[in-house]
Amino acid sequence: MNRTLTIVKTAFQADQMGGISLPQVALAGRSNVGKSSLINCLAGRRQLAKTSATPGKTRSLNFYEVAPLAYCLVDLPGYGYARCSKAERDKWAELIGLYLRGNDLLRGVAVLLDCRLEPQQNDLTLTGYLQHLRLPIMAVLTKADKCSQKERAQRQRQWGDLLGGGEPPLVFSSKTGLGREALWRRLDALAGVNGADAAATAPGEP
Ligand code: GTP
Ligand code: MG
Repeated sequence: MNRTLTIVKTAFQADQMGGISLPQVALAGRSNVGKSSLINCLAGRRQLAKTSATPGKTRSLNFYEVAPLAYCLVDLPGYGYARCSKAERDKWAELIGLYLRGNDLLRGVAVLLDCRLEPQQNDLTLTGYLQHLRLPIMAVLTKADKCSQKERAQRQRQWGDLLGGGEPPLVFSSKTGLGREALWRRLDALAGVNGADAAATAPGEP
C-alpha cells in the first residue's frame, strides 16, 4: 500500500498540542539518533522533516498524518543534547511529559536507539518512564547500515532483554531502507489500524 505523510501540526508549547483527533504514535529518542531521517525514509521524501548532522535540530513536536490509514506519527524533539542549557532541557522534559501523560489518543511510542551504542542512561530513563505510564514501546535500532550483523544481533538481544517481552527490536536504516516495510507494519499495528484492511477499502485504489 502507498502511504503518504503530510505535516498537519507543529507545536512548540503545550497549548499548541491539541486539536488532533486521530490516534497517534510518537517517535522518541536521543538527539541525532535519526528520528527525522526515519520520517523521511517512511515518506520516501528527503526534505519532509528537517535533518541535520548537528544535534538538536528538531525543537518542536511535529505531527504527520499517515493517509489513508488515519493516524499520526509525532516526531518529538530529541533529548540528551550535551550543549543544551538546563533551562532548555527542563523545557523539553515538561513539554514531552505533558504530551505523553495527557493524551488519550497516544497508542504507543517508537523508541529509537542507536544500533552502534551500548544502552545509554537517558534511553533507559525514557523507557522506564514510558513503562511507568504503561505506554506500549516499540524499539527501533537506527543506523544499522553502520553495524555488522553480529553487532545488530547483539544489540537486538540486549534491548530485547532490557525491555522484556513483545517483539524483538526492529533493525532499521534510513540510509538503505532496511526494515522499512516491517516498520510500517509495526507502526500501523501500534496505532491500532490494519494496513491490509485499509488497502482493501481505500477509495479510488484499484
Ligand atoms: P534531532 O532532530 O536533533 O533530535 O535529531 P534526529 O533524531 O531527528 O536525527 P536526524 O534524522 O536529523 O539525523 C542525524 C544525523 O544522522 C544526520 O546526519 C543523518 O544523516 C544521520 N542518519 C540518520 N539516520 C541514519 C541512518 O540510518 N544511517 C546513517 N548512516 N546515518 C543516518
Ligand atoms: Mg529531528
